[in-house]
Amino acid sequence: MCGIVGYIGNRQAYPILIKGLQRLEYRGYDSAGIALLNSNNDLNVYKAKGKVSDLVHFVQSKDTEGTIGIAHTRWATHGEPNQVNAHPHFSQSEELALIHNGIIENYAVLKQGLIENGYSFLSETDTEVLVQLIEFIKKSNNISLTKAVQLALDQVVGAYAIAVIEKGQPDIIVAARKGSPLVVGIGEDEFFLASDATPIIEYTNKVVYIGEEEIVTLRRGKELRIKTIGNVEKTPEVKKLEMTISQLEKGGYPHFMIKEIFEQPKTLSDSMRGRVNVEGDHITLAGFIDNKEKFLNAKRIIITACGTSWHAGLIGKYAIEEFARIPVEVEYSSEFRYRKPVIHPDDIVIAISQSGETADTLAAVELAKSKGAFIFGICNVVGSSIPRNTHSGCYTHAGPEIGVASTKAFTAQVTVLTMLAMMIGKEKGTLNNENYLKIVSELSKIPEKIKEILKQNDRIAEFAKTFTYAQNFIYLGRGYNFPVALEGALKLKEISYIHAEGYPAAEMKHGPIALISQEMPVVVIATSAGMYEKVVSNIQEIKARKGKIISIVTEGDVVVSNLSDYTISIPDTEECLVPLLAAIPLQLFAYHIAVVKGCNVDQPRNLAKSVTVE
Ligand code: G6P
Repeated sequence: MCGIVGYIGNRQAYPILIKGLQRLEYRGYDSAGIALLNSNNDLNVYKAKGKVSDLVHFVQSKDTEGTIGIAHTRWATHGEPNQVNAHPHFSQSEELALIHNGIIENYAVLKQGLIENGYSFLSETDTEVLVQLIEFIKKSNNISLTKAVQLALDQVVGAYAIAVIEKGQPDIIVAARKGSPLVVGIGEDEFFLASDATPIIEYTNKVVYIGEEEIVTLRRGKELRIKTIGNVEKTPEVKKLEMTISQLEKGGYPHFMIKEIFEQPKTLSDSMRGRVNVEGDHITLAGFIDNKEKFLNAKRIIITACGTSWHAGLIGKYAIEEFARIPVEVEYSSEFRYRKPVIHPDDIVIAISQSGETADTLAAVELAKSKGAFIFGICNVVGSSIPRNTHSGCYTHAGPEIGVASTKAFTAQVTVLTMLAMMIGKEKGTLNNENYLKIVSELSKIPEKIKEILKQNDRIAEFAKTFTYAQNFIYLGRGYNFPVALEGALKLKEISYIHAEGYPAAEMKHGPIALISQEMPVVVIATSAGMYEKVVSNIQEIKARKGKIISIVTEGDVVVSNLSDYTISIPDTEECLVPLLAAIPLQLFAYHIAVVKGCNVDQPRNLAKSVTVE
């Protein structure tokens, strides 16, 4: 949802900012722009519709000199994606340039007030209102940029991460955040600023995560200064980044998505590292142990998440209810936060989020917290907003996920949820030791089994070509495989733009069966663990109506394979772990269809990876 980046120091800012934008492009890619203050004190702003590469092309013969600058890649909220609406936005006098990630909710009222004071507007954005407001306050009170930003933000309702530079002030960048992420990198006599740490890691591993309603002033050659909007001084807390550069590159793969699919044997081992012991007979989750009594006494667990993370949450519900016998509700964060949910102080709310920044999930966390519930986060991005706002939690340790369609983060979330369900069950005595040992041992074998599935990549790529004609797909599964069907359908929709519905297999006869004809491909997850015979009957119903069947079966299966047009086999495992295997061929299938269709796999149209607006 928009990426912002900034630099001040001794080097040329332009290449650093462009590289930073490319790293943040997953957050939005409908337009991009840059503002640079050169040594003649010109404030140059360049903007282009389209991707960062379009901006680079546009800027080719322009003056890009300067050691201070800010840049932005946009995901449109207010105003269509075009050059005028792209950031940075100038103030009326063109003395200030500002970039913004978020939404200014009361922009219309503020805009009216500014119009009455003689300001006019070029764009349709809420952001332009903010830069004009800062200028108006600054000029009317004759105050510093930092003070003007502080007073302006005091009037703003909404979410933002912003950065502003000023003509005639080559030594400072002022930035602030509320609701949208912002991190500052500290180098030798230089500062970096970005929506996440990926543009920074190349230059320094020392970072400061800017807190809610904090304003940071980056001063050339001086110490970082942080104040709250309410004018309280803060001491910057410097953290060390654990990320590496190679994690942010494609490493020979054509797309991040396929790289991330292939990383799953490693990422799941990373998720389990230090949690499942080498002997494969014991799980230790610090997040559970630290809060054992809370989990053991919980009357109810509410899982809140969006998108793929919500699907992982559904699998978590099945596992927690089966092993820990605690009722679980799985809520879309966007619904939960607004529908006056009943939340008790002895409820546990688990917030799942890859990015740790999803605005709706963050708001759901705040709501549940205000009702006294215990909040547990399952997030991937270390130091992001959700883990900083929860009482406790577990990181998934999948490493940076760049492809917009989530793959490795999903399987890591399911792994953590499964480990959590088993730990609660074991401690409560609702999961007997024999089953516990069987499942832990199977869990530790999952990475090797995924390697086996990945060997079928070429074959999946081959038959995926057959389906580029399709306008619609149905995905079916039962039990633990129902959320996998939802996730498989979501992957296909996201990256290939083919409409796909995930359904519980038995519900098909209550509606979707009417859609089945020889034109309709149906993907069925029909593994031996979990209601196999029932799913076979559902497949017969599709076959009778001439639907094309693509099945995911357990190795050695004959019955479903004979009924299917295409079959992908996965190794046998425990029922609760099948999602970790069945998800893999569905990710590959969606990927290859999208590639053959010529779609932009890593940056699908209209989507963004980190949804920091509601
Ligand atoms: C966006 C992404 C999805 C993701 C969802 C939730 O829609 O495109 O891939 O599942 O947000 O994101 P989160 O970071 O909270 O898991």
